[in-house]
Amino acid sequence: MHKLAPSLLAADFTNLGLQLKEIENAGAQYLHFDVMDGHFVPNISFGVPVLKSIRSCTKLFFDVHLMISNPERYVDDFAKSGADSITVHLEAFQDESDLLHCLQLIRNLDVEVGLAISPNTPVDSLFRYLEHLDLALIMSVEPGFGGQKFILDALKKAEKLVQQGAGIDIQMDGGIDLNNLQSVLNAGVNVVVAGSSIFGSKDIGESVRSFLK
Ligand code: DX5
Ligand code: ZN
Repeated sequence: MHKLAPSLLAADFTNLGLQLKEIENAGAQYLHFDVMDGHFVPNISFGVPVLKSIRSCTKLFFDVHLMISNPERYVDDFAKSGADSITVHLEAFQDESDLLHCLQLIRNLDVEVGLAISPNTPVDSLFRYLEHLDLALIMSVEPGFGGQKFILDALKKAEKLVQQGAGIDIQMDGGIDLNNLQSVLNAGVNVVVAGSSIFGSKDIGESVRSFLK
């Protein structure tokens, strides 16, 4: 059984409390936070204050995707404010030792540890870190914006990752809708991130249920 992580980025912020109830009641397990800093990616979204404010109104698993430079500076704040998992980008680090240090920082905060790769990063570059991870996130669009078109190559990456047999969660993020969901699941993904195809639909609850069928 796969899990669904609706991406907050696509939500209607004037109606947030209600929308979160809707996705939770319909069976979504995670809430995906796309944190962007205008430096690692060319867009700015939201950060700790937003996460902290939402924490009290939902029991959803808070899945934090940090698309930021120097993520090690912020992991402590996110964890203390209610993150359940923190995912950093491999491309945010110059040195392997800095990356390993950051993964260890996250581990010490007692939240799940995730590592993401952007479309241009080969999946093999994740392999050496698998023993330190609870989840690997394969981006199926360039990080930075919701509503982009799915990049098919991400499916092959997930298959290769499954073949490694690491037994960790495999997330895919970007451009996922009901048309390509089955191929995403067939590739071995067990945590599906979806923004516009959930929050952009007329009936959010119905769309969550369709994603979980
Ligand atoms: C892109 C984000 C995605 C995005 C997904 O940088 O990481 O999580 O919000 O949104 P959709 O499903 O609209 O592609
Ligand atoms: Zn994301």
